[in-house]
Amino acid sequence: MLKRVLLIAALCCVAPAWVQAQADITGFWVLRVPTGDGNFRETFFDLKQAGETVTGKVMQGSRDLPVSDGSFKDGKLHFVVNLPSRGQQRQIAYDGSMEGDKISLGVRFPGREPVMGTAERTNPAAALPPAPLPIPELHDVPDNGLVRTPPMGWNSWNKFAGKVDDAAVRGMADAMVSSGMSKVGYIYINIDDTWEGPRDTQGNITSNRKFPDMKALADYVHSKGLKIGIYSSPGPKTCAGYEGSFGHEQQDANTYAQWGIDYLKYDWCSAGGIYKDKDMQAVYQKMGDALQKTGRPIVFSLCQYGRAEVWKWGSKVGGNLWRTTGDINDHWQRMDQIGFSQFDIAQYIRPGHWNDPDMLEIGNGGMTADEYRTHMSLWSLLAAPLLAGNDLRTMSDETKSILMNTEVIAIDQDPLANPVKVISQAGQSVVLARPLKDHSMAVGLFNRGDQPAEISVNWSALNLKKKKRKVRDLWKHQAVRTSGDHFSATVPTHGVVLLKVS
Ligand code: GLA
Repeated sequence: MLKRVLLIAALCCVAPAWVQAQADITGFWVLRVPTGDGNFRETFFDLKQAGETVTGKVMQGSRDLPVSDGSFKDGKLHFVVNLPSRGQQRQIAYDGSMEGDKISLGVRFPGREPVMGTAERTNPAAALPPAPLPIPELHDVPDNGLVRTPPMGWNSWNKFAGKVDDAAVRGMADAMVSSGMSKVGYIYINIDDTWEGPRDTQGNITSNRKFPDMKALADYVHSKGLKIGIYSSPGPKTCAGYEGSFGHEQQDANTYAQWGIDYLKYDWCSAGGIYKDKDMQAVYQKMGDALQKTGRPIVFSLCQYGRAEVWKWGSKVGGNLWRTTGDINDHWQRMDQIGFSQFDIAQYIRPGHWNDPDMLEIGNGGMTADEYRTHMSLWSLLAAPLLAGNDLRTMSDETKSILMNTEVIAIDQDPLANPVKVISQAGQSVVLARPLKDHSMAVGLFNRGDQPAEISVNWSALNLKKKKRKVRDLWKHQAVRTSGDHFSATVPTHGVVLLKVS
């Protein structure tokens, strides 16, 4: 009898972990994964368990992704989510086990080492975005008078992403000067996402462990004769899941001004889960006003991926530049796709207000030298911001020769800010021209194809008045002898011949 009582007691109270856990997994969870700098990245799960099968969804930012291949067996949880991406299938895999009322969970992103986090139960309301803030009336924010020519500098994201820190930024400022880049116009040292820490008890934004003292860092960058930029979002979270400026717009602008910040990139990100695109202008205007109220000249860079025809209103919110596309990456296909899709909106640039087809990838290793010369030539003809995205401390001579080609930079920085014109497009051959202040013309012959191509341009198509002309090749740095009514050259695969015709 005693034995039987003990057996029943054992079955009811000291059942193996999985017997209790099986019933427990259904519900709402928040997973917190440490980012290594004192922050946590949060992901919400809505899970349902039937027997050993787990279904449900993963909520990340404004995305809901269905759980697949889910199981909960012997206290061990496994599921994957498929990332929506064109081309190849990309999956995030989650594996973990129940520990008390929490789940210790490993997350494996494609191509990365697994990271560990802890999931705890929460309620569905925790995953909901906050209610939108009141939308201000529209008005025209006065021009701040900055960046009369497209901004030039460096930004941390393309090379460092979440790994940027104080030492890297100081190193980049040093290299900007020692490499000679600052002499040819590269001035801004811009810290992108992942510098943010929590807010203090007064709601002031702090920097995280990677940036122990922002004011000291800004002072250091200024001591080199350079300017410093920072990054935030109008939403509660940035794109990398860090603290955004939602509800703290003026307070954050004041903090940036106190630190000595000269440039803000303001990235839509989680604001997309709160506001509609029609409210974007007002939401950006709020920060445009806040920056001006600080009294410090701060370049205002809008980053909302070219939505809501931003080129038509970006300058009205005090914007100095606005992204016109989604993110670039270090591959020919993406750079080519972005660079050659900007011509219809070229007319919207003017001094102080620029289209931004995203930062440079030159020197990051994913493209050939010809492709990088195309990148630099195209961005210059577009009068795009020239924000290097590579490691300036370890640049090859070839990378330097591309980023520091002063004849090409002069096209980008031409004070007239004339829009580029498409002279001809035939198959994969594109001829572009841009009239410059000194009455000359920058002319680019681009070969987007996979074979070398013979490309020509008729002088008459350029509308140059004079019969006599001087032609200079801006990559060969030499004069070109021409005769007759046209110019013609063999342009390498994905390459360019860039001329100045005067
Ligand atoms: C977005 C932007 C990028 C970069 C990242 C940072 O994707 O478009 O340029 O700022 O966010 O998280």
